Amino acid sequence: MTADLFDGLDVAGPAREPLAPGAVLLRGFARPYDNELITAIEAIAAQAPFRRMVTPGGHQMSVAMTSCGSLGWVTDRSGYRYDACDPDTGRPWPAMPPLLRRLAEQAASEAGFADFAPDACLINRYEPGAKMSLHQDRDERDIGAPIVSVSLGLPATFLFGGLKRTDKTQRYRLAHGDVVVWGGPARLAFHGVAPLADGEHGLLGRQRINLTFRRAR
Ligand code: SIN
Ligand code: FE2
Repeated sequence: MTADLFDGLDVAGPAREPLAPGAVLLRGFARPYDNELITAIEAIAAQAPFRRMVTPGGHQMSVAMTSCGSLGWVTDRSGYRYDACDPDTGRPWPAMPPLLRRLAEQAASEAGFADFAPDACLINRYEPGAKMSLHQDRDERDIGAPIVSVSLGLPATFLFGGLKRTDKTQRYRLAHGDVVVWGGPARLAFHGVAPLADGEHGLLGRQRINLTFRRAR
């Protein structure tokens, strides 16, 4: 961990909002690094372009995705899985840039999960109208590790529920730089994103980018 990742937090500490036992929203946690994060995401997307994948049920997702790290999350007619190679290019996914890894480790530790060592980062791109239905992140072998989610660009409404699909969901506005961490008793909580409202963001224009860091194996 570099000193500067800590420095920004020393003054007041991050604003934290508990969502549930094991889940916390760290407001603005990634904001000091936004330009570097966007540059890193552009470099990843130049090697592994964003694409709208198809679910096992045959629906094309409204969210466009790519990945970095030793594993990337993919879906097609045969199912959901993690793969070391990008199916579109046949090449390994781009490496996870150290800045991204450190930010995820730091956010996890701030949320009470020491020693998070992500090996996969799914990068989601939402354009106005794109959404993600309520789901659990359960394709990872190691559910002892938390999920760290970083939001950039246009604000979104994040839905966060319980361990059953039918549990009531709470709605949270996730803005540029906000980070959510869920693990422990919340690791398998259902979550999703409401259709993105149109707008214009100063750095990213008409889009929202979300990074989710996982320990896939
Ligand atoms: C996800 O569940 O993979 C994405 C969550 C988000 O976009 O905030
Ligand atoms: Fe998810």
